[in-house]
Amino acid sequence: MAGQGGSSAGGRGVVISDNWPGYSLDLFTYPQHYYGDLEYVLIPHGIIVDRTERLAKDIMQDIGDNDIVVLCVLKGGYKFCADLVEHIKNLSRNSERFISMKVDFVRLKSYHNDQSMQDMQIIGGDDLSKLTGKNVLIVEDIVGTGRTMKVLLNNIEKYKPKMIKVASLLVKRTSRPDGYRPDYYGFEIPDLFVVGYALDYNEHFRDLNHICVINDHGKAKYRV
Ligand code: HPA
Ligand code: MG
Repeated sequence: MAGQGGSSAGGRGVVISDNWPGYSLDLFTYPQHYYGDLEYVLIPHGIIVDRTERLAKDIMQDIGDNDIVVLCVLKGGYKFCADLVEHIKNLSRNSERFISMKVDFVRLKSYHNDQSMQDMQIIGGDDLSKLTGKNVLIVEDIVGTGRTMKVLLNNIEKYKPKMIKVASLLVKRTSRPDGYRPDYYGFEIPDLFVVGYALDYNEHFRDLNHICVINDHGKAKYRV
């Protein structure tokens, strides 16, 4: 079952503490059009890639020798998903174990007709009925309260997949102690708004390699 972090190698991530000052932007390169818009680098691109490689190894260890359907949650999940799939492919090629993968993409659209997000529509991707009896790995960029993920899981469970696992690059520490924990995650981060590595602020910053904290100037510049 998805969710409770009970898998052998999952359930733990790199913990970035609330007082972590990050890295000065001057120590790295990043697109000139974002100069002045960012506070600091929270996670450099290289560390994201290295941690993703380890998650790929954990996933191989747990569900190797199976066929899986990787379900990438767009748009924010596309970088993590692409790198994760690449690492799984490489591990698969260089070991006795293999995973045969199909990759599909979904987007989630939520209706804010009231305060709840319960009315969430899954758009794009193949017919979800194709997931019946399959091993499904959902790949997300970030889990906050976990509400979105719970709704997505409920929707997918209706189609009776054989297994569902969730991999999220980031988990945000929120005030909710009952917060949902994915089976696999890269980093647990403070309750900050982050951008980069496909995570956006009003569609901007997806073209930034590092995961960074946006500053007030950046927020104002790209506010809609
Ligand atoms: N950044 C970008 N998208 C998000 C975040 C974030 O910190 N939290 C939830 N969606
Ligand atoms: Mg997302």
